[in-house]
Amino acid sequence: MRGRPRANRVIPAIQIPYNHHNFSSNKYFFEESRDGDDGMILDFLAAAYPWTKSLHVISVIAWMAGLFYLPRLYVYHVEVAGPEGEKAELFQVMERRLLRAIMNPSMIATWVFGLMLVFTPGVVDWSLGWPWTKAVAVLAMTWFHHWLALRRKDLAAGTDTRTGRTYRMMNELPTLLLIVIVVSVIAKPF
Ligand code: HEM
Repeated sequence: MRGRPRANRVIPAIQIPYNHHNFSSNKYFFEESRDGDDGMILDFLAAAYPWTKSLHVISVIAWMAGLFYLPRLYVYHVEVAGPEGEKAELFQVMERRLLRAIMNPSMIATWVFGLMLVFTPGVVDWSLGWPWTKAVAVLAMTWFHHWLALRRKDLAAGTDTRTGRTYRMMNELPTLLLIVIVVSVIAKPF
């Protein structure tokens, strides 16, 4: 057989010391543990890393579900129900509940757990490109959330002037941002 035996071959992506076991067994990968209150917080974040990331991804999924669904509701609200009447009222209730009960809390949870990950030692290297592309896309996603919240108020007041086509087009934005975010944070190509 030519070369090294299969079992000994190095698979670079797996060789990077980058899974949650490193956090419980190594002190911040290669750094020394720090003393004092800051050290305790960093130790806690490092130990909690796999749980923080799980909660982050769970929150992200709930948030994204809303970001995909709410503009769809707006399309049907505008095209089928119009500004007034029984159907319009039903859409208003669905839109309000989706935003308040699912989207606002899950956006906040995504940010809280995401920022905890940012402060976890060894997770984000700001000299690389991926944290920056992710940050820009995440800010755009947050802007989109607020844009939808403002449109909900217009629709509830019957003052919205946008067409179903506008909402259909805006519906593509979270998909594009999702692709940028997931590639940035998982493939980390730059
Ligand atoms: C709101 C602000 C956000 C912040 C501050 C943030 C920050 C982070 C950080 C620092 C990580 C850890 C990366 C690593 O372990 O290599 C992470 C993981 C992740 N984030 Fe976010 N994130 C945010 C929003 C989002 C959004 C909106 C999405 C999806 C649309 C997302 C998807 C993910 C995924 C899938 C992972 C797990 C990646 C892996 O397998 O390691 N994040 N996030």
